[in-house]
Amino acid sequence: MADLPPLSIKSLAVGLLILYFVRKLILFVYRSYTNYRFATANKCLPAARFPSPWIGIPNWWSIVKAARTSEHVALICNRYKQYGNTITGYMLGATHIATCEPENIKTILATNFKDWGLGSARYNSFYPLLGPGIFTSDGPAWEHSRALLRPQFSRDQVSDIESLDIHVNRLMGWIDKSAGKIVDLQPLFFRFTLDSATEFLLGESVNTLLEEDDGKRANGQMNFGQAFDTAQKYLMVRMRARGLYWLVNPKEFKAANKICHDLVDRFVYAALGKKNSMKSEPQPEKKKYVFLDSLVEQNEDVEYLRYQLLHILLAGRDTTASLLGACFVLLSRHPQVYAKLRTEILNSIGDGKDGRIPSFAEIKDITYLRYVLNESESPTSFAGLQQY
Ligand code: HEM
Repeated sequence: MADLPPLSIKSLAVGLLILYFVRKLILFVYRSYTNYRFATANKCLPAARFPSPWIGIPNWWSIVKAARTSEHVALICNRYKQYGNTITGYMLGATHIATCEPENIKTILATNFKDWGLGSARYNSFYPLLGPGIFTSDGPAWEHSRALLRPQFSRDQVSDIESLDIHVNRLMGWIDKSAGKIVDLQPLFFRFTLDSATEFLLGESVNTLLEEDDGKRANGQMNFGQAFDTAQKYLMVRMRARGLYWLVNPKEFKAANKICHDLVDRFVYAALGKKNSMKSEPQPEKKKYVFLDSLVEQNEDVEYLRYQLLHILLAGRDTTASLLGACFVLLSRHPQVYAKLRTEILNSIGDGKDGRIPSFAEIKDITYLRYVLNESESPTSFAGLQQY
């Protein structure tokens, strides 16, 4: 066989580039075809287009810039107002579809859940803090997490009002301390939900409401709350960096992840130790439900347990704090609702001065409270708020 001529670096590079673009083209045609078939089968209307010059680089940059001043949610809401509830355009070279249409969200998260996945973006961006778990998995891995976590959220397990009481009192203590001055409730709500969530998940609270909120500790290290917030901030920066997520991996992010992992691991080791000691000597009946104790019954892998816990902390902490924040913003804007809610609560469970802790059922039965919370969850409740 005749010798083949040597391949120059230049022709190799050109060949690889051509292969790369051919692969992209085939994928594009295949995706467009499957999307078209899916859209036709489901009678989907086309999404409204928002302007996307320069392959969407200005779009991407406007989101990144707005996020620096926490104005990205307002920017996205304005886009919906301007173009429609379901919009599409380019963002850093990729097609981007966003929706706030209730029917679409219901379809994605509930009725046709199986047709939708997270894809790799969430996992790639989130794994340094969260590893594999319910918010970073699709398919069988997600089903596994779901099956593991589902039994942990029965009514009895999430209705331990007594464990909340101490954290509520500390929160109220901060408000009393302000002696009539304006209090920024939002950071307090974030500390409150971190304290109560860690108590529920780990069996012991990280008690951030006991600390002065003076930034870094004396040794310059972040406390757990600061580390968790810092790590989450970087998760979102990584999400926004899209395919370049791996470039967002600074020292501060790594340090924050390590603080979170180390703290959770300490609790995991303690729970595993407790489980093993219980095997040799029977313990008195457990007083309160602890999520971690229940998880170690099913799995003893430290990393696995750490990540499950961090996923639930992420799920339950910021969401609840944001709901509380939203609720109080709305109550301050609607004094008649506040007055009615106050009366309903006083009539149902009193003012608490007798020291009696109301039961979960009593609180749940305050219908008007439920309505207020439901309204506070709805973005439409905020429509026109800027008019005040
Ligand atoms: C007002 C409070 C809350 C809101 C608004 C909220 C909202 C949401 C949303 C939008 C999702 C879908 C997220 C996704 O894209 O993957 C979700 C999932 C989830 N949430 Fe919540 N959440 C709240 C409170 C909580 C609490 C307190 C917990 C538990 C302690 C929790 C546990 C979960 C879990 C485990 C999932 C994953 C479900 C799955 O993928 O099957 N959430 N939540």
